[in-house]
Amino acid sequence: MTSSFNVHDAAGYEQLMGRWSRRLALPFIDFAGLADGEKILDVGCGTGSLTFALGRNAELSQIEAIDFSPVFVAEAIRRNTDPRINVQQADACDLPFGDGMFDRALALLVLHFIPETGKAVAEMRRVVRTGGVVAATVWDHYGGMPGMRMMIDTVAMISEAGRQFRSRYCFQPMMEPGEMTRTFLEQGLLDVAETQLMIRMDYQNFDDYWAPIAAGEGPLGKFVTTLGAAERARANAAVRDAYEAGRPDGPRSFANVAWACRGVVA
Ligand SMILES: C[S@@+](CC[C@H](N)C(=O)[O-])C[C@H]1O[C@@H](n2cnc3c(N)ncnc32)[C@H](O)[C@@H]1O
Repeated sequence: MTSSFNVHDAAGYEQLMGRWSRRLALPFIDFAGLADGEKILDVGCGTGSLTFALGRNAELSQIEAIDFSPVFVAEAIRRNTDPRINVQQADACDLPFGDGMFDRALALLVLHFIPETGKAVAEMRRVVRTGGVVAATVWDHYGGMPGMRMMIDTVAMISEAGRQFRSRYCFQPMMEPGEMTRTFLEQGLLDVAETQLMIRMDYQNFDDYWAPIAAGEGPLGKFVTTLGAAERARANAAVRDAYEAGRPDGPRSFANVAWACRGVVA
């Protein structure tokens, strides 16, 4: 298996994550660096949060974007109006590009969904020129996402399957401190640096927060759809109670931290 990501529908992804990955793309670009004239590869572009931000943040000469999901590739192509951008379906572990073609290869919220992460990093390194940059960022599911943990901890209290789901979710690849640095070094990258990036996710109300999950979007959404009607109703009520935290339903804001790592190609 080359991807553990669950794609349900592009609009649902937008509400669950696309609107926030657009925010995260900006500090990630600052960390990864970008310069006029460069050729950039966006690995695991999804619906294009990073792809389109790249085009807006420098006078790049070419932006190639790939994703494993045909649904997301179709949506990114539909949204694209920039002739420098080309989007195609491909596997991060087997990139359809020649050696040293790019100045940078970037992956926004992708490596934690690739079981053979080392292979993906090796491929990113292969397609970047000597002196170019490979950079990636992944959420810190265990310690950096209180809004998501509220939902995950609630389903974990409801069933043993929920506890097992929490364990898988909290320890997806690359999420432990220093794990990305180790992988980048193992793949021969130089000057490897790791940092943390923080954005806030701001919700209008409980439905804005929970609706994409209830509709089956993302890993937690997929799990929630496996619950029986009574368990779903309990999960729904308990998550709502945690979201409201004793005040009337309305806007809430959560901090979210991602690990980010970059290295230079030898
Ligand atoms: C959380 S989404 C991030 C999408 C986008 N970069 C963003 O930040 O909105 C994870 C993405 O990784 C993609 N993905 C997972 N495994 C992949 C693989 N082996 N090759 C290419 N893309 C992959 C999924 O299809 C999905 O679009």
